[in-house]
Amino acid sequence: MGIEVVVEGLTKSFGRQSVWRDVTLTLPAGEVSVMLGPSGTGKTVFLKSLIGLLKPEKGRVLINGVDMVNSPEREIYETRKLFGLMFQDGALFGSMSLFDNIAFPLREHTRKKESEIRRIVMERIEVVGLLGAEGKLPGEISGGMRKRAGLARALVLDPQIILCDEPDSGLDPVRTAYLSQLLIDLNAQIDATMLIVTHNLDIAATVPDNMGMLFRRELVTFGPREVLLTSEEPVVAQFLDGRREGPIGMSEEKDAATLAAEAGAGAAPAPPRRIVPQLEPSPGLPPRAAVARRRRRVMAMVDQLPPAARSAIRETYAADAAAPTLTAPSAGSGT
Ligand SMILES: Nc1ncnc2c1ncn2[C@@H]1O[C@H](COP(=O)(O)OP(=O)(O)OP(=O)(O)O)[C@@H](O)[C@H]1O
Ligand SMILES: [Mg+2]
Repeated sequence: MGIEVVVEGLTKSFGRQSVWRDVTLTLPAGEVSVMLGPSGTGKTVFLKSLIGLLKPEKGRVLINGVDMVNSPEREIYETRKLFGLMFQDGALFGSMSLFDNIAFPLREHTRKKESEIRRIVMERIEVVGLLGAEGKLPGEISGGMRKRAGLARALVLDPQIILCDEPDSGLDPVRTAYLSQLLIDLNAQIDATMLIVTHNLDIAATVPDNMGMLFRRELVTFGPREVLLTSEEPVVAQFLDGRREGPIGMSEEKDAATLAAEAGAGAAPAPPRRIVPQLEPSPGLPPRAAVARRRRRVMAMVDQLPPAARSAIRETYAADAAAPTLTAPSAGSGT
């Protein structure tokens, strides 16, 4: 089962440039979470801080009692083995075949025999749909295939925590839809805790149990998907609606004068957002173990959430509860 990741008061800067301050959130065990945020808000820096590759100045990242910020390097190194990380750029070795790229962590971190390595690598290659391409070099395949190879490599050490940095960038909409399904199927198969950084609104709307957003050097919000999807917070709404009007500018946040001018110009209001259902695992796969845990967790906090999120959550779970009776044969319907 996946492991909970607890982030407390995390603050990171590079020299005098602050990236984000006081980020506090918990990635619930085995659940899928998405982190949104405009370019340059520090999402990649956040992922790297979780696995201890970058050191925030303040705060803690707790995994099984190990603090990935302040614990001795030896403990951090051991705990890092629980992670599978899919990098933004794929980060494959150009001179190695896909097979060797995917086998790399096994050869580096384990003493498994070559026959065992072959079995594991081919299994992961099949999971991400790359069978037949294992002999190719990264330069000989498409960007989407490189992404999936990066994902396969992230999976070889049976990670309990999976971090994906923009798994969709450079993919067409159809490939992105397959990728969304692949992420949910993976979660059903291994019950790992997952955090996905993405700009893709379809992934954000259909994949995660939880969602957060980084903006203006802060975590704007993090919680059950319904909270962010129903949020009226201007920056969240602008992002979800993909609009130019709002606090997010082309290269940086807009100043107050620009915002006032926009408000004065009376841009058409965005149409209301609808919450689409979360993806289910493909037929034949086990149900996601996180679903029941998430339901208990969210129902315990529902009264503290904003009204729009509260009713969205109640609707989701009411629909779930009604589903079995819809499919069960109903007596006397005599068709
Ligand atoms: N090693 C580093 N040294 C100095 N500054 C860095 C370093 N890594 C990142 N930064 C800075 O931190 C900020 C956040 O970068 P980061 O890559 O995390 O953004 P991001 O949210 O992942 O953006 P994108 O969506 O474009 O990938 C940027 O201003 C970047 O220049
Ligand atoms: Mg990034």
